[in-house]
Amino acid sequence: MKTVAVISRKGGAGKTTVAVNLAVSAFRAGRKTMLADIDPQRSSFDALRARTIDGPALAGISAGKLFHAKSQAAHDGFELLVVDTPAAPDSDVVQAVNSADLCLLVCRPTFLDIASVARSAEFVRSLGKPGLIILNQAPPKRGGLEPVTVQKAVQALRFCSLPVASVGLRARAAYQQSIAHGRSVGEWDANGAGAIEIARLWENVAAMLAFDDKDQNAKVG
Ligand SMILES: Nc1ncnc2c1ncn2[C@@H]1O[C@H](COP(=O)(O)OP(=O)(O)O)[C@@H](O)[C@H]1O
Ligand SMILES: [Mg+2]
Repeated sequence: MKTVAVISRKGGAGKTTVAVNLAVSAFRAGRKTMLADIDPQRSSFDALRARTIDGPALAGISAGKLFHAKSQAAHDGFELLVVDTPAAPDSDVVQAVNSADLCLLVCRPTFLDIASVARSAEFVRSLGKPGLIILNQAPPKRGGLEPVTVQKAVQALRFCSLPVASVGLRARAAYQQSIAHGRSVGEWDANGAGAIEIARLWENVAAMLAFDDKDQNAKVG
């Protein structure tokens, strides 16, 4: 079983949005998936509980129970554990990072988010954990041109000690609408631009986890 921790020391960066969308993507790709929400706000737990169709298994737990939940999930044959985390306290985030095979660092294209993610990237690297920075809530292109804020964010993130995902997520109403119904953007609008970027992000993450695409349509056991 592989464990992915979705982290950001900034509230509102998009941890829950990324965790829910990737957990549902993995589930739909045939991976037996659990989402563990260790944020006391329980946002992803509440979002996925609203699903009226099958989806990832759910655990709303404290950070202190993560180790046990991970062992149990591995024992029960889960292939992927996605951990949604709070912005604080430090100790809870550290437990999530320690439990992870891969850390996803979510970052908006703002000065303060980038400064924060740079520190988090150093920390993740110092623990020897692989990581991937995901730019989220990027404003849309205007007249085919990337907004200056996004260009500058991408340049600045290159100086972080972890790679940046080749696909960023734009600010889209579909992310807000879909999660309110416990759905991924792909389930909400299969042909939408959000669906395409999440599919590409999942491919990127699956490759880093060394998940093989060949059994993407396999049934969940
Ligand atoms: N790419 C996006 N486009 C539009 N809204 C987004 C996007 N990502 C997150 N949001 C919205 O921003 C808010 C904070 O996102 P959330 O995932 O809850 O962040 P966090 O878990 O880091 O606090 C939510 O209202 C969410 O719907
Ligand atoms: Mg959250």
